[in-house]
Amino acid sequence: MTRTAVVTGGVTGIGAATCIALKKAGHQVAATFFGNGDEAKKFHDQTGIPVYEWNVAVFDDCQRGVAEIAKAIGPIEILVNNAGITQDVTLHKMTCEQWRSVIDIDLGGCFNMCRAVIESMRERRFGRIVNISSINGLAGQFGQTNYAAAKAGIIGFSKSLALEGAARGITVNAIAPGYTDTAMVAAVPQDILKKIVAAVPVGRLAKPEEIARAVVFLVGDDAGFITGETLSINGGKYMQ
Ligand code: CAA
Repeated sequence: MTRTAVVTGGVTGIGAATCIALKKAGHQVAATFFGNGDEAKKFHDQTGIPVYEWNVAVFDDCQRGVAEIAKAIGPIEILVNNAGITQDVTLHKMTCEQWRSVIDIDLGGCFNMCRAVIESMRERRFGRIVNISSINGLAGQFGQTNYAAAKAGIIGFSKSLALEGAARGITVNAIAPGYTDTAMVAAVPQDILKKIVAAVPVGRLAKPEEIARAVVFLVGDDAGFITGETLSINGGKYMQ
């Protein structure tokens, strides 16, 4: 069945691959972005997928944006919270701003977006929410106390909302990708990244499409019994 899907941070990386995969699966998809208008235009021109700009860290903007999409396309039945940033720095050098911006966007964005769609999902007795966590939320990472806290928070958030949504046909799951071939990972200093990749049993970065296919799996109408789960996709890294 065709559903209306929204992917935050949906014009590049894992988000863009997810939008394309959801569209291929027959859904009506909208992507959100913030601050990267050129990339959003390019994505829209290439895919035809509508794009909407707002900051997921701002509660009222999420309310407004979700209402706009619901009016234009239909009530949101699939939400993929993918928008996120890093501000990597060791804790003894981390500023409040570096802490707050990551928590507000990566974890606060999840709350703001879920809060904006949840009432309509409850009324319709159907919803699929997938929150993008990270291997670093499970394992921790040097220089990522902010990011790992946000990504670990997403897992507890997802399990709790899964409990609340279960009786209303709403599933909530997290995906914990390993290092994936995106601009975010490309920003890691090359010498450090080389060592990280060398420690991945599969021996390479994930492709964004390899994460996107898991999202499509989790949001299917026939995935109603999978909820509160965290799906790791990391080339075997977390076993090491
Ligand atoms: N483990 C142990 N020690 C480490 C270390 C590590 N992983 N990395 C660095 N150190 C050591 C250094 O050797 C150095 O030791 P000395 O002082 O004895 O020389 C010390 O820690 C300080 O290191 P730096 O001078 O490099 O510290 P810095 O503040 O300049 O840089 C950093 C720290 C910016 C965090 C840098 O280490 C870094 O970029 N690390 C990569 C972080 C990372 O993996 N981010 C992932 C981004 S992608 C993503 O997050 C997507 C996803 O979901 C997977």
